[in-house]
This record gives sequence, C-alpha cells and structure tokens, in this order.
Amino acid sequence: MEENRIIAPDLLWSDGEESVIRPRFFSEYTGQEQVKKNIEIYVKAALGRGEALDHVLLYGPPGLGKTTLATIIANELNVNIRITSGPAISRAGDLAAIITDLQERDILFIDEIHRLNRSVEEVLYPAMEDFAIDIVTGKGPGAKSLRLPLPPFTLIGATTHAGKLAAPLRDRFGVISRLEYYSDAELLHIIRRSARIFNVALDEQGAVEISRRSRGTPRIANRLLKRLRDYAEVQGNGVITKDIAAMGLSMMGVDELGLDATDRKVMLAIIEKYNGGPVGPENIGASISESINTIEDVCEPYLMQIGFLRRTPRGRVATPAAFEYFGFDKQDEKNDKQDEQGSLF
Ligand SMILES: Nc1ncnc2c1ncn2[C@@H]1O[C@H](COP(=O)(O)OP(=O)(O)OP(=O)(O)O)[C@@H](O)[C@H]1O
Ligand SMILES: [Mg+2]
Repeated sequence: MEENRIIAPDLLWSDGEESVIRPRFFSEYTGQEQVKKNIEIYVKAALGRGEALDHVLLYGPPGLGKTTLATIIANELNVNIRITSGPAISRAGDLAAIITDLQERDILFIDEIHRLNRSVEEVLYPAMEDFAIDIVTGKGPGAKSLRLPLPPFTLIGATTHAGKLAAPLRDRFGVISRLEYYSDAELLHIIRRSARIFNVALDEQGAVEISRRSRGTPRIANRLLKRLRDYAEVQGNGVITKDIAAMGLSMMGVDELGLDATDRKVMLAIIEKYNGGPVGPENIGASISESINTIEDVCEPYLMQIGFLRRTPRGRVATPAAFEYFGFDKQDEKNDKQDEQGSLF
C-alpha cells in the first residue's frame, strides 16, 4: 500500500545523506525553470530592498521539490527557516507561539498547509496581511482583543493540491507557483548528480533507463538509483547498466512507463470495472481499497500527464492510449458510448 510506494516521502538515504543530496541553492536545483526564474527575481528584489519576501505558495504532486525549494529560498535570502506542517499545528496558540518567535525576514514553512484547521487559519490571516496577531483576553462581554505587532516574515506554504486551500488563505499569498513533472533530460541530470555525490557506478544507458521510469519525479529517481545500486552489486558487477536497471525495476514492480502497482490498479479499475468510465474517484478508491487522497494527489496527476486519464464533469475517463497500453480492445468503450446515447432518448 501507500507506505511501500516508490513515491512515499520517508527518508530516501539516511538523515545525513538526505541533507547532502538535497540542493541548497538555485544553481543546484535542476528544472522548474519558469518558477525558479520568477522566484529568483523576487528574492533578489527583496534582498535589494532589505525587505521580507512576499508569501509564497508552492503546490504540485509529492516529491517534485517543494520543501527543497523552500530551504533554497531561505539559504539565498540568508535567513532562518522554521519548518512545520498543517497537521502538526493543532491549536491557534501553537501557531501564535511559533510566529511570535520569528525574527525579521525569517521564513515560516508550513507543509501540507491545506490541513490547517479553521481556528489556526484565522491566526494566520492578520499575521500574513498586517504582520500582527490578535490576542483575546478575558471571556464573555468583558473580553478584549489586543493587537500585537510582529516582525515582517515570509510564509511559504506547500500543498499537493491548491484547490484544497480555503480561498481567503490562498488570496493572501503574493506568489503562487505550481511545480511541474520533470523532463527525462532534467531527471538524467539529477540522477548523474546524485550518482556522483554517492559514488554510484552507472553507465549512460542505465541512467537513461532510470530517468525514463521515474515518473517525472526527483524523489523517485533518487530512490530508484539507490535500490538499483544494491541490485547491481548483488546481481551484476556493481555498475548500473540498462539491463540491470530494467531487471531491477521490473522486480520492484515499476513498469516501462514508471507506473507502479497502485497506478496500474487505478487504470485497470477504470477500464475493467467501469468500462473506461466516467467514474468518480471515490468509487475507484472503494474498488481498489486505496485512499482518495492517494488517487487524487499522487496517481491521477501523473496518469493525466501521460495522457491515460481525463477528468470530465461526470468523472474520470480512461483514454484510448490507456486501453491500448493495458492490452484492452477499445470495442467495449464504443459499445458503452452507444449505450449512453441510446439512453438519452
Ligand atoms: N529540482 C531538483 N533538483 C535536484 N534534486 C531535487 C530537485 N527537487 C527535488 N529534489 C530531490 O528530491 C527529493 C524530494 O524533494 P522534496 O522533499 O523537496 O519534495 P516535496 O515536493 O517537498 O515532496 P512532498 O510533497 O512529499 O513534501 C529531495 O530529497 C531532493 O533531493
Ligand atoms: Mg515536502
């Protein structure tokens, strides 16, 4: 299930290794050219004026580099970064304690920001907008609200799904950037860099094979590299070649396109159980015992990216390319369309 997936956010290398491999500056951060270019400009401008950077919202599927980018922004601005997450802040007071502890121009990074609860969010609004925090003293009719000024700071929020954010919160971010899946060439570059850092022997074709099958995601590329290193040492002569990569990946259940077992289950459910759709994500989830969050935030974005899935107002639909890839005749789909039309009259 989810915890065994190659996308799972658990530590890729040991603690120390993870911090070595994570890019620290824009110059080490491959890809995301548009986002990087814009944010670099805002960072330079903020530095030039000696002001706090505008609040930044980063969104996109897991493993594409949101947390990495937040730490890079802090390094480039030469400020402290305080890292927390939506589920970790349960009470308004917890957030107030964190915010009042920030120094001028510091960065507060809130991961999974869509999971903040309402009362916590309400502390965030004046903090983001006016750099102030409202403290209520007393109870009932005698209660008084006291406004406490805060040093200007930057909030960086990360989420896999911008649509899950309350509109008033979203509106308070000056910069909203969406991270995209990486191209094979960008992943190749990331894989080579990681292999250099950790002295992993791999040849050109081996590197290409990993990049093609990493689902457009640096976290997966790094993880596959690490597992294939073990595989090459045990099954080969220590070098990750194309053959070693191909064999190792198929043993891990990663197919030609980089799809894993969960991705395949999602597509097969739509094709086999629902005749290609349309079907809602709740029904897909129920039929394969997978959480709707995993389906919506992890599987679907990539399946749409490679043209296997379409979102329609009535649900998810498998494309002809998906039918073909999984070896199904599109005949069923056609019959289904006729039925649908028939039922209109
Ligand atoms: N642009 C990049 N260049 C090189 N390596 C990268 C890049 N982006 C991410 N990585 C690597 O991929 C790994 C995952 O990145 P990161 O943790 O920043 O993803 P994330 O978007 O925050 O994921 P999640 O949504 O699960 O929190 C990191 O360990 C980092 O080393
Ligand atoms: Mg992260």
